Parts: sequence; C-alpha cells; structure tokens
Amino acid sequence: MELEAFVLAEQYLSEVEAAALETEEQTEQFRLRYLGTKNLLKPLFDEMRNVPNDRKKEFGQLCNKVKTTAENKFQEAKNILDRSKLNQFERIDLSAPGEPMQLGSRHPVALVMEEMVAIFERIGFSVAEEREIEDDWHNFSALGTPEDHPARDMQDTFYLQNSTTMLLRTHTSPVQVRTMLNGKPPIRIIAPGRVYRNETISARSHCQFHQIEGLYVAENVSFADLRQTLTYFAKEMFGATKIRLRPSYFPFTEPSAEMDVYLGLETERDQRLTKGTGWLEVLGCGMVDPVVLTSCGIDPEKYTGFAFGIGIERIALFKYQIDDIRLFFENDLRFLRQFRSANVF
Ligand code: DAH
Repeated sequence: MELEAFVLAEQYLSEVEAAALETEEQTEQFRLRYLGTKNLLKPLFDEMRNVPNDRKKEFGQLCNKVKTTAENKFQEAKNILDRSKLNQFERIDLSAPGEPMQLGSRHPVALVMEEMVAIFERIGFSVAEEREIEDDWHNFSALGTPEDHPARDMQDTFYLQNSTTMLLRTHTSPVQVRTMLNGKPPIRIIAPGRVYRNETISARSHCQFHQIEGLYVAENVSFADLRQTLTYFAKEMFGATKIRLRPSYFPFTEPSAEMDVYLGLETERDQRLTKGTGWLEVLGCGMVDPVVLTSCGIDPEKYTGFAFGIGIERIALFKYQIDDIRLFFENDLRFLRQFRSANVF
C-alpha cells in the first residue's frame, strides 16, 4: 500500500507539471501556492516524520523534485512575462519624429530695445527702470516744461482719472530725474521703457510706444563726449560711419540737437527711408541744462552731463521694413511669428 504522503507528493508533482502559467495572475497564484511563505510543500516535507526509515530517502527526493519543478516552472514563466513586457516597451518607435513644440518668438520692439541696451552696456552704461505712472513734477516741471506748456494739456497727456497731477509718463526722461535725485555722479544709465501720449492712432503714430533714455553725468562731460558716444552707437546699431547733429530744442537740454545717421543712397530702401537725402533721423540729445541738474540736487558748477532719447518703434519699423506702427500692438500671431528667426536660443 502506498503511503499517504507519497500520494500527496505525486499529486502535487502532477499539478505543478500541468499548471498553466500564462498570465501574471496565474503565475502569482502558483508562486503563493508552491513557493510562498505558506506554501503547500512545507507540510509535505513535514510528512517525513511519518515515512518509515527505509523510504525516507525516496520520499525526500520526490519532495525535492516537486519543489525544483515548481521553482523552474515559476522562473520560466516569469522570464517569459518579463520579456513580453519588455517587448511592449520596445514597440515604441524611438526613431519617430517628436511632438512638435511651439516656440515663442521675441517681439520686434523687444529685440531692437535689447540690441540697443547691449550696445550701451558695452561702454559702461547700466540699465535703470522706473514707474510708468508719474507725477507732473518728474515728467514735466523738473525737466523744464512750464506749467502752461501745451504738452501738459489733456489733449496730449493721459492723466489718471480725477487727477490733475498723476499721469502716464509721456517720455522716459523722468527716469533721468529720479536717477539723479537718488544717486551721486558719476551717473551713467540707459533707461528703456514704455511711454504714452494721447495721439490719434494711425500707421505712423500710436498712443503707446517705447523709448530709450540715456544719461551721463560726471565731472568734465562735454559735447564732444556726447558726439563720440553717439558715433559709436550709430556704427554698432546701423553700421553708419557718419552722423550729424542738427541744432534743436528740448526744454531740459542746452544746447540741444537731433542726430541723423548717414545710411547712404545705394539701395532703393535707403532712398525711400531717407526720402532721398541719405540721412535718417534717429534721436534727440543735448547737454543736461544746469537748471535741471540743480532741480535734481546736483551741483552744476562741479558736474556736467549729456542726455539722449531714442524712439524704438521708428527704428524697428525701419530695421524690419514694416510700414504700420499699429502692427506692434495688435498681437497678431501672423505678424509676430515672422520674428522667430531672430530668436536667440
Ligand atoms: N524726451 C524727449 C521726447 O520724448 C526725447 C529726448 C530728447 C530725450 C533729448 C533726451 C534728450 O534725453 O536729451 O521727445
């Protein structure tokens, strides 16, 4: 008569051999049943006690066979499952082109502004930024614009609601005032920013635009220094070798001038942009009026300075051959995307 323990061992062996391990679930159940901490083979090994001595060896071998068969079967099934997981992964086509990523583009006004700032930074100017909402003292009075001047009129300047003194700055020149009031010479700043004027919007003018203000105050700053600085700028920005300074008037500089750069008449574009003269008007400038220095707490006996102001949009229109300033403020992507190639990255 076969011993019960042998019957059980044979039964487990045939179960193990017949088990179908095709899914993760089946394989896990199998592992728990035959190899886990509470597996069925442990009590089977315990049956050894009940087996007579002369058959212990035979029983031990049978039990080991069940165990190794289960182990091998489990390992094999696991390998197959792992490999098929890996195959799924490999099915991803690594050579397929990636999802297109939309790159933004830089605004042409920002591009021109940054280019100009970089040019002045190279010769020691540092960037100063100030508020866009100003009071009339910083925007006008301190800069020599008298109270009855037409520029102060509601028609030209945006005042805040119910205010006769608070306004949207009409130029970046008040940054000069704030910088001088807050610091001591030598002062060498460049101030890019947005300005506002109550103008009728057309292809040529807008109620908002950008300027860059420059200011240099130190001992012995002369008109020759101004000319030198602007000549360098004209060369870097426009590749122009010649500039000219025409006498002009600004209430905060004395003397005042307007700077033209010589583009020449070689191309049809230069002909058109300079209206057949070869010269392009670029900026206003001058020696800071001693009265302004005094208003800003700087001793005009000791210090002198020069200042200049550049309109950005005019230069951007020229540089990119755009003929309508309104395009800069409409955020039309078809327009803006054309500046993608100018991306720095
Ligand atoms: N603020 C002047 C304007 O908006 C431009 C200007 C002219 C600025 C001469 C200056 C300067 O600093 O010296 O029309």
